[in-house]
Order: sequence, then structure tokens, then C-alpha cells
Amino acid sequence: MNNIILIGFMGTGKTSVGETLSNSLKMAFADTDQLIEKKEKKTISKIFEVSGEDEFRKMETELLKEMVINTKNTVISVGGGLPIREENRRLLKELGIVVFLKTDAQTIIERLKDDNTRPLLQSGNVFEKVNRMLMERNPIYKDACSFSVETSQKNVIEITEEIEERIHENACD
Ligand code: S3P
Repeated sequence: MNNIILIGFMGTGKTSVGETLSNSLKMAFADTDQLIEKKEKKTISKIFEVSGEDEFRKMETELLKEMVINTKNTVISVGGGLPIREENRRLLKELGIVVFLKTDAQTIIERLKDDNTRPLLQSGNVFEKVNRMLMERNPIYKDACSFSVETSQKNVIEITEEIEERIHENACD
């Protein structure tokens, strides 16, 4: 089985859906944030604090390049900002089938309101930030994916089943 990659904004459920999907399909599971944290022996917040966002983005690209070579039969959830770099979008397509988990702003804000692990949402007005970032990023996610799944009103099992049913589609909308 080809790798299946889950992309989408923070709080769209990439990690929990990825774990459930990998169990159901008897595939391995990997999460780019977790792999970077392990490699750097630091949390994502600490990496942003010490090295900055640009360095973190370079780490994501390096990891993707390694995964294109090493990773097979794996469901991979990737950090919300990873598809922003064009190079990364090209690497994602090489890596496997890309599924965009699409969630509305209100649901994301509700899920992330007490979260302190996402450095990009720790200052300023979260409502404005999430809305602005979603406007910027949704076309990018759309450009990067094989198909998208609307997740706002669905639970993890429903989203997982929908991905399994639609895995052979190849048109993102
Ligand atoms: C980021 C999303 C995070 C993490 C980092 C930056 C982003 O991953 O990579 O905080 O730019 O959207 P999740 O999408 O898993 O929260």
C-alpha cells in the first residue's frame, strides 16, 4: 500500500485520525512533529523559541526528503505549516496519497482555545489569526492534496471510514 499523508490546519485531527486509520488499514503510523521532536530532543515550542520558525521549516523539508527514501506502507500526519513550501508539496506528492482534512474556523478555534503547544497561536487574537491563516492556507492545502474530507461535524471514526472509502480518488475540491 502507498503511504497516506494527512494534511490540514492545526486542530483538524490529523494525528488522531492518522492513528485510527493506520490501525484499521494495518499500516504503520508516523507524525512529522513527533519525529522532529524526537530527533531534536526538544518540543516544537522549544524549537520555535530557540531556533525560530525558518529553522523548523528546514527541519520539516529535511525530514520529508528522508521519508521519501525510507518510508513505506505508513499513514503520515504532517505539521499544519509543512505544505506551505512548494518544495514540500512536491515531496508530499512523491511520498504518497495526500488527504486534506478540512475544518471550519469556528471548530478549530473551539478545539485550540486552551492549547499552549502551538507556538503560532500563542499571541494576538486567536480568532483573527486562525481566520487569516485559513484563508492563506486553504488554497495551498487544496493544491497539495489528492482529495479532501470535510471533518467539522464528524468524529474520528467517521472521518477514518470516509478516507478508506475514498482512498482511490484523485481530485481535490
Ligand atoms: C504548525 C502546526 C503544528 C506544528 C507547528 C507549526 C503550523 O502542527 O508543526 O506548531 O504552522 O500550522 P499541527 O498541525 O500538528 O498542530
